[in-house]
Amino acid sequence: MPDIQTQEDLYLLVDEFYKKLLADDSISYIFTDVVKIKLEEHLPILVTFWSQGVLGTGGYSKNLTQIHLDVNEKEYLSPELFKIWLNHFNNAVDENFKGQKAEQIKTQALSIATVMQIKIAQKKG
Ligand code: HEM
Repeated sequence: MPDIQTQEDLYLLVDEFYKKLLADDSISYIFTDVVKIKLEEHLPILVTFWSQGVLGTGGYSKNLTQIHLDVNEKEYLSPELFKIWLNHFNNAVDENFKGQKAEQIKTQALSIATVMQIKIAQKKG
């Protein structure tokens, strides 16, 4: 199995990942009802984001934690939802890629998810 090497690889990854998210009723409503994402606009943003993280390109400059705090204002993003999100993400990686970048992207996802959850917990007070 190949490692993640190009933006095309990342596109395949986020496409497979969102198929899993959207097929899972326990989390899909966040993307279809709470925020109505347009996949054709959303997926290229995710590619830019992850390309910056694991391929060393630039181009993503938004405050990702704040974007998720805004989603959390509309619908609570619980630890359970983060667990589901991370499971689908890790599975999408493992089913398609193997190697150093594949490990790196899973580690980054976990650490970003951890920061988001700490910020969300602080908001709950
Ligand atoms: C419970 C877990 C999560 C849920 C339910 C969730 C949901 C969402 C939603 C609804 C959006 C669209 C926001 C909007 O356009 O207003 C979004 C955007 C995004 N999410 Fe998440 N997210 C989760 C965790 C994460 C994590 C852990 C990461 C990264 C490691 C991440 C990366 C992104 C990126 C890159 C965007 C695009 C932001 C932009 O438009 O600039 N998400 N997420």
